[in-house]
Amino acid sequence: MNQPAAEQSIMRQAYEAAIQGHRGANPLVGAVLVEHPEHDAAPHILATGYHQGAGTFHAERDCLTKARAAGVTDFSRTTLYTTLEPCTHYGRQPACTDLITEAGIPRVVVGATDPSPNGGGAQLLRGRGAGVVVGVLGEQCRELNHRWNQAAAQGRPFVTVHLAQSIDARIAAADGTSQWITSEASRQHTHRIRQRVDAILVGTNTTQIDDPRLTARDTQGRPTEAQPLRTVMGLRQIPAAARLTQDRAEGDGWLQLRTRDPLQALQTLASTTHNGHPVKHVLVEGGQSVLSAFFAADLVDEIFLYTAPIILGAGRSSLGDIGVSTLAEARQFALDPAEGGPTTIMDNDVCIHLKPHPKGTR
Ligand SMILES: NC(=O)c1ccc[n+]([C@@H]2O[C@H](COP(=O)([O-])OP(=O)(O)OC[C@H]3O[C@@H](n4cnc5c(N)ncnc54)[C@H](OP(=O)(O)O)[C@@H]3O)[C@@H](O)[C@H]2O)c1
Repeated sequence: MNQPAAEQSIMRQAYEAAIQGHRGANPLVGAVLVEHPEHDAAPHILATGYHQGAGTFHAERDCLTKARAAGVTDFSRTTLYTTLEPCTHYGRQPACTDLITEAGIPRVVVGATDPSPNGGGAQLLRGRGAGVVVGVLGEQCRELNHRWNQAAAQGRPFVTVHLAQSIDARIAAADGTSQWITSEASRQHTHRIRQRVDAILVGTNTTQIDDPRLTARDTQGRPTEAQPLRTVMGLRQIPAAARLTQDRAEGDGWLQLRTRDPLQALQTLASTTHNGHPVKHVLVEGGQSVLSAFFAADLVDEIFLYTAPIILGAGRSSLGDIGVSTLAEARQFALDPAEGGPTTIMDNDVCIHLKPHPKGTR
């Protein structure tokens, strides 16, 4: 195997590790540590790591921790492969560049550079004497987080959409009833997503029609420890008796976003603190008008589309006008391999995990 092919093959393993994570407040990142034995023998993999979401170890730290747990003490003949440039920033986790330097890793191979303020790690490491190669499987690694980068550049949280519909793409029956279209397993999946997002967003009508609590609950229906900020987007007053304004014991607060402009709503959320952190990941749960506004404004970064094997006929369709008048303008999405893959059977439902196609339209 020539060198570039060998490097690409290891980076591909880092990529496969990265997509075990889930999308949201932080980018998907994978890392692989290899050792170069003496003479020309092929490098062998010491450890693989990935980032499991905000507040958890970054991929590099996960990888180094696993290597040390496996008995590695000397890093002087190793190379660290990472799908994203190591961060230079101390937040909830230490800067990965410092962990790499402290371990004494002499060489780092990077997939994509980090355009966010956390970037610059490659240059920093070079300045400290490490050999740094950038751009191995570069396009694939850049594409992995292209929507996360876009959200960061727009100064807004990452947006995940939840869409629970019938096979004829209805989110409610003709009389407005919509609880519950999908199965228990689908709803439990949504509750797990609610636990990890910073905020949930619905429109005023959903608050009035469904009167949801919008809390994250476990399989027994009990509120979980981590609760998102519950938000309602729209100009009208939320009914005083609405459950999301009442259930203070269950949730960690709620907020009305007095706007119909989704970008403005997101920018307000970006400057809102919840549980001590800015809101960086929002789950948009509907209904039709609000979902359509997010699609129209190209503000959907990830979709979980739950389809139940029922037909509702004259019910409310999942989406309305999103500004697409001809097929060539269709918003294009792609199957998302992250977090367990693009399709999952949940009881009788099918959950399809989608991400926007980098080109946006067909
Ligand atoms: N199956 C599911 O997963 C699911 C999930 C949620 C809801 N639903 C169903 O969806 C139905 C509600 O859908 P919906 O479309 O009537 O209501 P909606 O999207 O929940 O709320 C619509 C309201 O949101 C406000 N709004 C904020 N931004 C807007 C924008 N850019 N464009 C338009 N309106 C905006 C407006 O209220 P203001 O006048 O206050 O500005 C508007 O009347 C219900 O039947 C509910 O059960 C289903």
